[in-house]
Amino acid sequence: MPSDLLVTGISQLVTPPASIGAVHGVRMRELDIIADAAIAISHGRIDWVGARTSWNGEAREQIDLGGRAVVPGLVDPHTHALWGGDRLQDFEARSSGLGYEEILAAGGGIRSTIQQTTRRSSEELIALTLPRVQALLRSGATTIEIKTGYGASPQVELTMLETIHALDQLTPAAIMATLLVHLPPPSDREEYLQQMTGFVMFEAGRLGYVRAVDVFIEREAWSPEEARRIFTAAGNQRIPARAHVDQFHAIGGVEMAVEFGARSVDHLEASGAAQIASIAASSTVAVVLPGVTLHLGIPAAPGRTLIDAGAAVAVGTDLNPGSSPLFSTQMAMALSVRINGLTPSEALTAATVNAADVLGLTDRGRLHRMQRADFLVLDSSDWRDVVYTMGASPVARIFIAGREVVA
Ligand code: NIG
Ligand code: FE
Repeated sequence: MPSDLLVTGISQLVTPPASIGAVHGVRMRELDIIADAAIAISHGRIDWVGARTSWNGEAREQIDLGGRAVVPGLVDPHTHALWGGDRLQDFEARSSGLGYEEILAAGGGIRSTIQQTTRRSSEELIALTLPRVQALLRSGATTIEIKTGYGASPQVELTMLETIHALDQLTPAAIMATLLVHLPPPSDREEYLQQMTGFVMFEAGRLGYVRAVDVFIEREAWSPEEARRIFTAAGNQRIPARAHVDQFHAIGGVEMAVEFGARSVDHLEASGAAQIASIAASSTVAVVLPGVTLHLGIPAAPGRTLIDAGAAVAVGTDLNPGSSPLFSTQMAMALSVRINGLTPSEALTAATVNAADVLGLTDRGRLHRMQRADFLVLDSSDWRDVVYTMGASPVARIFIAGREVVA
């Protein structure tokens, strides 16, 4: 059977090696690099990959890339891309010394975005979110996670899950929805918790496409014990757990989430030796978000120490209006080298296969037989340009499930 498409003219084909699941520790820097490579694709999946000279099949169509490097499509495992309004006032106030937590404690920050988002219709939110998703896609993200968390009530949160899911049909990128239990309401905290662990979780399970339930564990948000109740309810619906932890204070969120078997613990800017050791001894992936360190001026998550201790690290933009207005998944990967101490090859692993693992996806993030043919053609013959470049896109062409997309 001839393949649908043969891609040649690949100066370097670069991929994390074939194996199962996230890559831990210093193995994150092991990449397979095939010079003068070719990829054969059928039905959106990779049929064959190797040195061009060893290809002896047939293909109905052929594309010659003219000597450019190819890497897997990036996976952005952590965004809050669905929001209304803006946080420009916060940005200005912080630049003159007010803290992010102070603004939040005074009822602003995330709470102002909750108000501004809840007042918008699904159609308006789609119109606001789609260009953000297209920006992430143009930067090389072929799979993008989007969280809820800006709905003022449990019912609005459920509607936002559906709005996020609807976006999947409107962009070539694959959109993955996460339910984020973000902030407790100003009053009736227990009632809200009961609704989230009750009918909201039941409905999230029924929808079938919710990839995870995430909880913001922080002094101004939920306690580890409250988060455990939410995770238990999610587990009853077979929905994996994730958590925003140690962004400002290490209050036990990492330890609880790891013990619960969460898929990921995200942020970690305030994590110390105990938290690092607990993640390293687990299969939970540590997600670093360098855009937050850059935008808020808070400490960097200890990416280097986590990898050296044996953890699996992933990277995301955390695209949101308050803590990370970063519209490029490629730039997040590039920043993980400068801010979190990853090597370029570790950064590529963090932004591909490890990010896919956070979303429970085993069919992408590597360029091997049977994987989805999601890949990027760089504007360079050297793959390292995808991690080196900042501020301009090193991505020349994008293929999703074997088809070139116009982003
Ligand atoms: O990942 N920290 C909690 N949630 C988001 C920020 C949301 C916002 O500031 O609007 C985060 O940083
Ligand atoms: Fe976040």
